[in-house]
Formats: sequence, structure tokens, C-alpha cells
Amino acid sequence: MEIVVVPEYAALSREGAARLAAVIRQAAPDAEGRVGPSDGRERAAGGHCVLGLATGGTPIGVYRELVRLHRQEGLDLSHVTTFNLDEYCGLPPDHPQSYHTYMRRHLFNHVDLDPHRARLPDGMAEDPAAECACYEAAIAQSGGMDILLLGVGTNGHIGFNEPGTRFDSRTHCVELAEKTRLANARFFPPGEAVPRRAITMGIATILAARQILLLATGAQKAEAIVRAALGPITPDCPASVLQRHPRVTLLLDQEAASQLPKRAASLPG
Ligand code: GLP
Repeated sequence: MEIVVVPEYAALSREGAARLAAVIRQAAPDAEGRVGPSDGRERAAGGHCVLGLATGGTPIGVYRELVRLHRQEGLDLSHVTTFNLDEYCGLPPDHPQSYHTYMRRHLFNHVDLDPHRARLPDGMAEDPAAECACYEAAIAQSGGMDILLLGVGTNGHIGFNEPGTRFDSRTHCVELAEKTRLANARFFPPGEAVPRRAITMGIATILAARQILLLATGAQKAEAIVRAALGPITPDCPASVLQRHPRVTLLLDQEAASQLPKRAASLPG
């Protein structure tokens, strides 16, 4: 597990976006239609790139920086497919607090992504189990995620996989923990309840990504980070399972890294 600590949020956002952009550029076909070297694992043909994306407060700066790279430095996203980690059940895609709306607001409306290739789970699906199976199949059909951006909850949840989630879980419906609903209430107008259920990629879905980039900022995430990086690998802290993945980076600000022993956290030179 690589641990990168940066001084503050702006640096974290730049570094996170630079890492996503590197994967996007590597997959872009050149003028002759050739694709750059992949990491050697099997991938779908055609020079496309598959990103897994997160919501929440933390990645907003990364999306802002990706938009800047697109506008000012010509970052091309036309060959990119995206899959979001999760969506609330019961919120239509145009609901202001849905993750569909979040992604349009922060990224999709501002770059050249093909809207048909920007996927989120359908929180309004009449048959949520069928929707979960369909979402899982779509990720597999795309060739799998080249890189997955993750946040982390204060209780160590990843996506909406709350403590206790099985490590072999695939995309599924979940009951949200009260702690998570409380933490996310800040995104909802006063008096409007945070939904109780959501659809989320499972832990096994997350681990199948070829590369994982987890972002965390602020002292409130410090305990989850030390448990994720150094604690026992246990469903009590879903993020601890990332220790089993061969290619994970924790990108942290100093407060989120504050409970890590000094030797565990490397400051970039
Ligand atoms: C939500 C999302 C997660 C996100 C977490 C942390 O519960 N489903 O994907 O990682 O919150 O959010 P924030 O970045 O706002 O702290």
C-alpha cells in the first residue's frame, strides 16, 4: 500500500486528478489508433478507459481539477467509461441530492464524456436486485475498472459498504448506518431525510479494480485511515480489506494522516 501525504486539500486534489489523468491519457488512442501500454492485465479492446468514481465532499476538488485539465490542457475523456460506486435508493436521477446530480454538477456536464458511458446504479429500479446484477455485469463487460477513486467514511465504510459487509460482496442493496446518514445529512436541505437505503458496489467489486486511489482529508478520518492502513483486516473496518489489493494508494492530507506512525507516511519530495 502506497501512502502519500500532502500539505492540504488543493494539493490532494491536484495529485488525485493527475493520477486519474495519467490513466486516462495512457489509454487514449494515438493518431494511428494505437493504445499505450497497459499494466499487462487483460482489458477490453478499443483503447478505452474505465474509471470508478466516488461522491461525497472529498473528491469535489479532484473533479474540479479534471475539468481544468480538460479545458486548459486538452485532457480528452471521449474514450472514457465511468461507473460510480453507489446511489441512494428512492431518489430519481434529477433529485438535487442524488449522486446522478452530483456527478453532472461536478464533472459530467463540464467534460467530453459520452453520457451513455457515464453510469451510476439506478436508485429507482423497480427490481433493485436485478439492477445490482445488471450493474455488476456492465462493469465486467466494460473490461473492468482501470482505476477506482474511493473516499472513506469515519466508520471505515467504502462506497456504502458499512462495517460487517462481507468481503465477497458484489453490487448490492444496503441499509445505511445511522452514522453515515448523519454524516451525509449536511448535503440535504434541513428537514429532508437522508434515504435509508442505497445500491453500492460490493467489496469484491471494489477489489477487482486494477488500481485504487483512496482520498481522505481531515482529522475526523484519521482513525479510519490508521485502521485501514495498519489495523487488522476485518469487516469491522471495510477499508482494511484494501491491504489485500496489490495496487492501492492512500492520498491523505496531514490531518487524515495524523494517527499514522511517521515511517508509514511518505511526504512526496
Ligand atoms: C458517502 C459515500 C462514500 C464516501 C463517504 C465519505 O457515504 N457513499 O462513497 O466515500 O461518504 O464522504 P466524504 O468525502 O463527504 O467524507
